Amino acid sequence: MKSKSHWENVYSTKPPQRVGWYKPHLHTSLAMIANTALGVNARVIDVGGGASTLVDDLLEQGYEQITVLDLSRAALSVAHSRLGAPASKVKWIEGDVTTIELPPAYFDVWHDRAVFHFLTKADDRKKYMENMQRSLAGDGHVIIATFAPEAPPKCSGLEVQRYTPELLRGELGESFELAEHKSELHVTPGGVEQMYLYCRFRRQSRAD
Ligand SMILES: C[S@@+](CC[C@H](N)C(=O)[O-])C[C@H]1O[C@@H](n2cnc3c(N)ncnc32)[C@H](O)[C@@H]1O
Repeated sequence: MKSKSHWENVYSTKPPQRVGWYKPHLHTSLAMIANTALGVNARVIDVGGGASTLVDDLLEQGYEQITVLDLSRAALSVAHSRLGAPASKVKWIEGDVTTIELPPAYFDVWHDRAVFHFLTKADDRKKYMENMQRSLAGDGHVIIATFAPEAPPKCSGLEVQRYTPELLRGELGESFELAEHKSELHVTPGGVEQMYLYCRFRRQSRAD
């Protein structure tokens, strides 16, 4: 998980359309972000956004407060170059989600597709969740897509943890309610079938 060199190597040696998780558009993520009903002023962070086109599509829809965080400089530079001038509207952060310092109580939407599932150590999952909880605005939304139980045990050659909605909810804790979930079959550019689970959680507003 912490292997920055693994990810730098992937993005430096493969075209972005050839990585296993490539989709031309992240439609399910976009739909779940729209379902938050927060509108285009929402502060969205794409955690482990890599070279994905989510940022392109969000900019196209009018979102202006977008942050993309990734461990890999090479991945961020692919997305940055593809966007051209609009890239300057985005905040790009190269760093590790389990250790990076993010602004407190800031993000309305935390989006992660295929990143949390690489955290096979309980201590890393704890650090991830603490960081998410600290940087999420009071009643923010968390969208996490992981491999589902029927998916292969590895992604990008690395072991992954596979989740049901109940297991993922257990990781987030009692203060989050599951607003929606969806299973989606993804076929890699190499033809391998991987079942993903997308979940959107909402933090319950505290009465105190
Ligand atoms: C399977 S790819 C998914 C990329 C993107 N979310 C998508 O759906 O196309 C996993 C991404 O997470 C990044 N990553 C892995 N570990 C990370 C960490 N600890 N902190 C931040 N990013 C990480 C990798 O560099 C890679 O871009």
